Amino acid sequence: MLLQDRVCLITGANRGIGQATAQRFVDEGALVYANARRAGSLDALVEKNKEGQIIPLYFDVTNTQTLKAAFLRIRKEQGRLDVLVNNAGIMKDALIGMISSELVREVFRINVFATLEALQFAAGIMRRQKSGSIINFSSIVGVEGSVGQSVYAASKGAVIALTRSTAKELAPQGIRVNAVAPGFIDTALFHSIGEMRVASVSKDVGMGRLGTPEDVAGVCAFLASDLAGYVTGQIIGIDGSARL
Ligand SMILES: NC(=O)c1ccc[n+]([C@@H]2O[C@H](COP(=O)([O-])OP(=O)(O)OC[C@H]3O[C@@H](n4cnc5c(N)ncnc54)[C@H](OP(=O)(O)O)[C@@H]3O)[C@@H](O)[C@H]2O)c1
Repeated sequence: MLLQDRVCLITGANRGIGQATAQRFVDEGALVYANARRAGSLDALVEKNKEGQIIPLYFDVTNTQTLKAAFLRIRKEQGRLDVLVNNAGIMKDALIGMISSELVREVFRINVFATLEALQFAAGIMRRQKSGSIINFSSIVGVEGSVGQSVYAASKGAVIALTRSTAKELAPQGIRVNAVAPGFIDTALFHSIGEMRVASVSKDVGMGRLGTPEDVAGVCAFLASDLAGYVTGQIIGIDGSARL
């Protein structure tokens, strides 16, 4: 049990990597506040974990008021927060010349601004307890760049920069901040690039398979746990040697 009795908040936990991470954290003994924006979309996860290890929190991460209210509720109910997983994210592609300012705003609002806001609220609680682990979500695209994905890549690059900076600022308070940079993970987000592209990019994975949400969840469990107690400011690739 890597995360026995740890209090965790995971955003975007109703499907994909977030859902797998919530389940892995529960399996490791954690109490998980699971966020989703659509009411009822966490029912299956709650039902599967009947002993109350999953507490659903419905809100949109881009709404500052509801985001703040979620942290206040966790502090009131548990008096602490050990782990924040900033998983919620969107990917929207557009070639240069086709990028609207609305698209830029939408992608950055979720992938970057909400990540930073949640991190600030979490740090406010974690500072008092002088411990905590924050896991942000970057991407292989944010590290290497990708055709048609300038906006998404820029947002995930920003996550790398804010992870490195906040890790430095929060280290003296015992708060660790790391990011994961997944490659091609078999979720709806990845399949949104179209099945022809899915087939062609999948061939370029050195390990010969797509990643699973559980592959990412395992690394998140490690980063959340004491096994990673001296790891901060790192960007951990989870890509099976994928090439873009
Ligand atoms: N899959 C990959 O290949 C891959 C690679 C690199 C990085 N990533 C990153 O990994 C993270 C998870 O991706 P995934 O593949 O699991 O994607 P996914 O299956 O599309 O799931 C994304 C999750 O984020 C939630 N979300 C989006 N906007 C939200 C908002 N404003 N408020 C609350 N929740 C919101 C979604 O909720 P709804 O159900 O309401 O839409 C959903 O639960 C993302 O940050 C993504 O950029 C994924």
